Amino acid sequence: METTLIILKPDAVQRGLMGKIITRFEEKGLQIVGAKMMQISQDLAATHYKDHKGKPFYDGLVGFMTSSPVLVMAVRGVGAIAISRSMMGATFGSKADAGTIRGDFGVSNSFNLIHGSDSPEAAERELGLFFNDGEVLDFDRPINQWVYDYSGGDPE
Ligand code: RTP
Ligand code: MG
Repeated sequence: METTLIILKPDAVQRGLMGKIITRFEEKGLQIVGAKMMQISQDLAATHYKDHKGKPFYDGLVGFMTSSPVLVMAVRGVGAIAISRSMMGATFGSKADAGTIRGDFGVSNSFNLIHGSDSPEAAERELGLFFNDGEVLDFDRPINQWVYDYSGGDPE
């Protein structure tokens, strides 16, 4: 099982889309194992997006992410990182396919509703940035027996 960091960005919170987006992850079969609202500080945004420092969109990105509260979530499942990225859709709302979160709920290229870690290394780093010890929970979910095929031992 992988765990990934999802952020519902300020536009998703302000537009009242948290519930609809959370529902997509739940209905897909992914398990939400951590969630909290917070207002991201300048320092945290800079650390989180350090790879984009110096790019033309960096200042706007940090300004946007710190402008209003976000909902951060830890989302778990087999292949959760890649599955979440495909559910999010392409970076720009104007390009994202219909059926994806960015494709269905937005048109903007910068107000693009959602962040998801893009690799196992990024997920581990980002979960550590946004969640304190004990805030990402390990708990049994009996419905996993119907979400996954365990007949071979491992969830398939
Ligand atoms: P995110 O990190 O937020 O999940 O988005 P992403 O992986 O799809 O895109 P990434 O390349 O990591 O870019 C981070 C955020 O910066 C803004 N951006 N603007 N104008 C531009 O060319 C541009 N490129 C990226 C977007 O808000 C993107 O989510
Ligand atoms: Mg990214």
